[in-house]
Amino acid sequence: MTPDLMAKGTELAQAHAKLEAEKKQGQTESGGRSAGFSRMHKLGEVDTAHGRILYLEDVCVSFDGFKAINNLSLDIAPGELRCIIGPNGAGKTTMMDIITGKTRPDSGTVFFGSTIDLLRYKESEIAQMGIGRKFQKPTVFEQLTVFENLELALKTDKSVKSSMLFKLGSLQSDRLAEILHTIHLKPDAARLAGNLSHGQKQWLEIGMLLMQDPKLLLLDEPVAGMTDEETARTAELFLALKGKHSLMVVEHDMSFIKAISGDSGIVTVLCDGSVLAQGSLDQVQSDERVIEVYLGR
Ligand SMILES: Nc1ncnc2c1ncn2[C@@H]1O[C@H](COP(=O)(O)OP(=O)(O)OP(=O)(O)O)[C@@H](O)[C@H]1O
Ligand SMILES: [Mg+2]
Repeated sequence: MTPDLMAKGTELAQAHAKLEAEKKQGQTESGGRSAGFSRMHKLGEVDTAHGRILYLEDVCVSFDGFKAINNLSLDIAPGELRCIIGPNGAGKTTMMDIITGKTRPDSGTVFFGSTIDLLRYKESEIAQMGIGRKFQKPTVFEQLTVFENLELALKTDKSVKSSMLFKLGSLQSDRLAEILHTIHLKPDAARLAGNLSHGQKQWLEIGMLLMQDPKLLLLDEPVAGMTDEETARTAELFLALKGKHSLMVVEHDMSFIKAISGDSGIVTVLCDGSVLAQGSLDQVQSDERVIEVYLGR
């Protein structure tokens, strides 16, 4: 979820009861229908002519003298599903913090496409450019329905009241229906998000990101805490998203990594803040250094 959306959703949920009461009494302060507008995110074009949607070179970041990211270089192709594995403390989450503007590196280069220097932008601007991030813990609005959560993800107007009076256009309705189907929550559209299972909440949050049509999705340990069946469905979901979006998936669950990387997907192994090995899952799994630091003997 984007930082803006997180703040607005909380505000929106709090204002919900008040507006409902006002509507019943026919005394909205809002100016009625004319205030009920919003707009889709207008994502800037990302130039991927050089075959790369994300490009990191020699990135370093230290926390109190400790090099959490140490000359990290890595790039991802448009439509690719890249798996990132590595031991605890390798710097996987910190790398996502850098890409999304949450953490500023001490040095190095981070580009989105070949022209957008991400280090020049704030976290909220990066989200609006089309980089969606999913944290490990699901952050959906529990007191809103599945449908309302997805609807909320479309709204970029800062005013809570105009968000609440927002009407979906037909294209947006189609998109919402398509995403409900993609995330396997069509039968649950009217349920409160708080009543969903952990796995369903994770899918809903992914759906909320998809509503903004991100070019690149960063997913940090998306199947942690899921049942085996939910994990298998999540693998199907990611494989369906691949191609239409670029994905970077951090996970410790190796059977999930196997399912989503298939025969040809690239797996990057991070260790001590830089790339230790990279290649197909078979290649990295048989790499002595990877076995030593991560997979065990
Ligand atoms: N804000 C911070 N301040 C201080 N140290 C930090 C900060 N963020 C991360 N670190 C340190 O940087 C290192 C990398 O952490 P990070 O969370 O990126 O690892 P990770 O690969 O995501 O690990 P895990 O698999 O456990 O999630 C760790 O040693 C961590 O303690
Ligand atoms: Mg982490």
